[in-house]
Amino acid sequence: SKAPLRVAVTGAAGQIGYSLLFRIAAGDMLGKDQPVILQLLDLPQAQQAVKGVMMELDDCAFPLLAGAVATDDPNVAFKDADVCLLVGARPRSKGMERADLLTANGAIFTVQGKAIAENAKEDVKVLVVGNPCNTNAYIARAAAIKVGRTNPANYHGMLRLDHNRALSQLAAKTGKPVAALKQLVVWGNHSPSMYADYRFTTADGASVKALINDPVWNNDVFLPTVGKRGAAIIEARGLSSAASAANAAIDHVHDWVLGSDDWVTMGVPSDGSYGIPEGVVFGFPCCCRNGGYEIIKGLEIDDYSRGKIDLTLKELEEERAAVASML
Ligand code: NAI
Repeated sequence: SKAPLRVAVTGAAGQIGYSLLFRIAAGDMLGKDQPVILQLLDLPQAQQAVKGVMMELDDCAFPLLAGAVATDDPNVAFKDADVCLLVGARPRSKGMERADLLTANGAIFTVQGKAIAENAKEDVKVLVVGNPCNTNAYIARAAAIKVGRTNPANYHGMLRLDHNRALSQLAAKTGKPVAALKQLVVWGNHSPSMYADYRFTTADGASVKALINDPVWNNDVFLPTVGKRGAAIIEARGLSSAASAANAAIDHVHDWVLGSDDWVTMGVPSDGSYGIPEGVVFGFPCCCRNGGYEIIKGLEIDDYSRGKIDLTLKELEEERAAVASML
């Protein structure tokens, strides 16, 4: 049987943690034959709640769960980690400005990026879920690069929830099953500025853009629906999306580790593709194989798409500027 992989999860006592940990332990993320050890990080005041979650993990008697530890020390949580899911973040409190939110999170993610680079496996895969996730991933990566050791290409932000949201809207619009839809991409920041782009998407081989043939629906219905979905869920549920966010994190890491036939959207550090400055963590179309990923190159970017991509990039550049002094 396989040796266990170590999965560190931060914000383990939170809502997303509660939807995420049980599925990881059940084998949904790394495979049904892959034992896992969970290394749970949360703040000191949340340690008791983490203990409660660990009691429930015990009570599931998951055959693949080879161990679990809880800690408030990032150096312990990230020790020898193969995968790090950075879910915990500083939420925006009342009256907090956007810049304050960015720097409060900057403080968290510089510490965690350094701790990962010093403690985790050299080929660790890091996915930042905690918002603002692209910029938090950018910060963690910058802190990790100072240490060396780990692969700077392996610090990702989560765009998969936007990707999955867009897929389900397209399935509803076309009447095609989700599984029939291929080659979707969501460019940019995980925010309402993201650009979900179905110009290349096919349904059973047919062009989805041609099937829909409705640029007004694209611009005035589809993009706002996907972009503001998080707010719509808070409005309906009284709580933010947690199960679907946990599911997207599982999908992202699953495909990264185990490969994917289809394109997947990942927030990855730019290599300069499509005019996105190097290092910016940006939603790109990727393909995954052999435990690695590649940005899909050479897609045609028309004027409408260039405008959308430039807008979401502008927002990320502003976030980068707000944290520049911390790096
Ligand atoms: P939550 O508030 O229920 O849980 C957050 C947990 O993180 C808490 O247990 C808190 O104690 C912990 N935490 C805070 N700072 C920490 C630190 N420095 N180290 C370790 N743990 C820390 O929040 P929820 O609903 O689980 O969401 C978590 C994050 O995920 C939020 O930032 C949210 O905005 C983000 N999110 C991202 C999505 C995406 O698509 N990228 C989708 C949905 C949520």
